[in-house]
Amino acid sequence: MTPKTVAVAGATGLVGREMMRVLEERNFPVKSIKLLASARSKGTKLKFKGEDLPVEELTETSFKGVEIALFSAGGSTSKKFSPCAAKDGCVVVDNSSAWRMDDTVPLVVPEVNAADIKWHKGIIANPNCSTIQMVVVLKPLHDAAKLERVIVSTYQAVSGAGIKALDELLEQTKAVIEGRKPEAILFPHQIAFNCIPQIPQSDAFADNGYTSEEMKMVNETKKIMGDQSIRVCATTVRVPVYTGHSESVNIETEKKLTPDEARAILANAPGVIVKDDPSRQVYPLASEAAGHGDTFVGRIREDLSHPHGLAMWIVSDNLLKGAALNAVQIAERL
Ligand code: A2P
Repeated sequence: MTPKTVAVAGATGLVGREMMRVLEERNFPVKSIKLLASARSKGTKLKFKGEDLPVEELTETSFKGVEIALFSAGGSTSKKFSPCAAKDGCVVVDNSSAWRMDDTVPLVVPEVNAADIKWHKGIIANPNCSTIQMVVVLKPLHDAAKLERVIVSTYQAVSGAGIKALDELLEQTKAVIEGRKPEAILFPHQIAFNCIPQIPQSDAFADNGYTSEEMKMVNETKKIMGDQSIRVCATTVRVPVYTGHSESVNIETEKKLTPDEARAILANAPGVIVKDDPSRQVYPLASEAAGHGDTFVGRIREDLSHPHGLAMWIVSDNLLKGAALNAVQIAERL
């Protein structure tokens, strides 16, 4: 690949920093890199390949001469600036939810639907973190036995809500240990030593009783898998973990799959590592998945409540495969 001129929009954020680290680590052929964030961060220095580079303010003219832009600066910023970038001939890989359900924008997990990259018109959407790790595991099972229904409950890390959320978890944890009353600012309730079944924390519940994160898992799964018939029910929960989303997933398939058959299929699946030896207490853990690009699956067993059902536990680093790594993998395919 010839070296590319790259921009990272939202470079000062948790995911933006991971994007830079992943570009570096995977030796992405970068000719030059532009680091963009809000006016607040103008002049801040960030390291890339050992060099201190200044952060520039993201504006409508930031993308002249840029070939690939990785965006992780929130939905409204993406809505405003991605079209400007595309107009200037740049291809945007956007980590926000702004474009995901737009019919003219491919929603891509390279292990699942890399072919969809071809029909982009300047913007490619990176799916929701919880959806990415789930479909990486479910696609090979879908190909083998056709998924009919998925029931998922998530245990999502606080880093998915950004830097300020991590600070709040740390501060609340200290407060509880020191016997002070923990203060909830970003989260609607105490997150330290607690679980909150509302993601994102700032959104109102929809009329159907679901959160937008839950509906993302429903709708994005169908779009990425290219199958509107898959029925999905999601409950998304924030837990006091720094990094690594965990998911309890139950599936019903048209053709029966035994746990052994599922393990054999997943052992050969790209981006998936089977970690499943309950006799030795081996199963995926957020603490072990953090920092790794793969998606881990274990506790694969029959769902005793359904003749064609399987239950499993899926874990991945939400900032890597759930965000930065998936975006860079899309850029590599480009
Ligand atoms: P800044 O640091 O200047 O606020 P996180 O989700 O970890 O909080 O990161 C969000 C990222 O999006 C940050 O890099 C932030 O920059 C950037 N960002 C937020 N709002 C804007 C905006 N209006 N224009 C450009 N960048 C923005």
